[in-house]
Amino acid sequence: MKVICTEKSQVLATQVAKALKTKVVDVNYSRFPDGEHYLQAGEIDDEMVIVGSVVDNDSLVQLMLLVDACDTATNRLVLPYMAYARQDKRFKAGEPISSRVVARALSPGVSEVMTVNIHDKEVLKSFSVPAHNLSLAKDIGSYIRSLDLDNPLILAPDEGAMVFAEQVASVGEWEYDHLEKTRLSGVEVRMTPRQLSAASRSVVIVDDIISTGGTIATAAAMLYQQGAKDVFTACVHGVFTGGAYVRLMATGIRDVICSDTIERSCSRISAADRIAEALRKS
Ligand code: R5P
Repeated sequence: MKVICTEKSQVLATQVAKALKTKVVDVNYSRFPDGEHYLQAGEIDDEMVIVGSVVDNDSLVQLMLLVDACDTATNRLVLPYMAYARQDKRFKAGEPISSRVVARALSPGVSEVMTVNIHDKEVLKSFSVPAHNLSLAKDIGSYIRSLDLDNPLILAPDEGAMVFAEQVASVGEWEYDHLEKTRLSGVEVRMTPRQLSAASRSVVIVDDIISTGGTIATAAAMLYQQGAKDVFTACVHGVFTGGAYVRLMATGIRDVICSDTIERSCSRISAADRIAEALRKS
């Protein structure tokens, strides 16, 4: 078995290969003069693990080309982050179901797919091969434990992320809750933990994705107003679109942490062990 990866998942793929005690196949990536992607893979094994987050359109094309380059092998596809997964419904007439488009594009030529904390597990049904989702909730919990915070409060930004917060909190048997948004006027909202007080406590807001960071920035500012001692935030997929990281840090958040499903300099949690463990079992 060998691992092969897209350009934007090189670090994670190398860690996965290390955990599996195997090699990463060298791939030369370049472009044709008209901008089309080109790649040439080194020696392929009979069994391949293709690792690549869909972080943009280029990485999606690279993944499709990699699968084809490995067409002599049995391929398992690891999609640590899957862009387009949030457009999983036709919210308005005339829209595509983009998650389904990506799943259909990436199913041919692979025997199995693994995702990590996908936005909604229903998306897995759009692949035409067996697809499983892994969770880094426990890994985020272990990272929080390493911060050695005194009795931290783990907060989900909304009720939908409560199960995730509960799984994170279970690592240290910490208290957890979710934020509740009350609209005070057309422009004013208040966000408070539903049941517990943040006063004098270290709070860690956890979520699957930070995209614009809008919700967490507002929540952090309000938690400080409510007397929180420190606010941290940790997520699986650090998308950080449109300057989100800077905006979050400007609220006084002590640290913004993400995993390497999208490789960032603040990727302090690796999905590699979780992925390798799942590959060993599958
Ligand atoms: C929503 O369902 C997700 O779990 C995240 O809360 C959301 O995608 C974060 O978006 P943003 O960072 O733009 O507030």
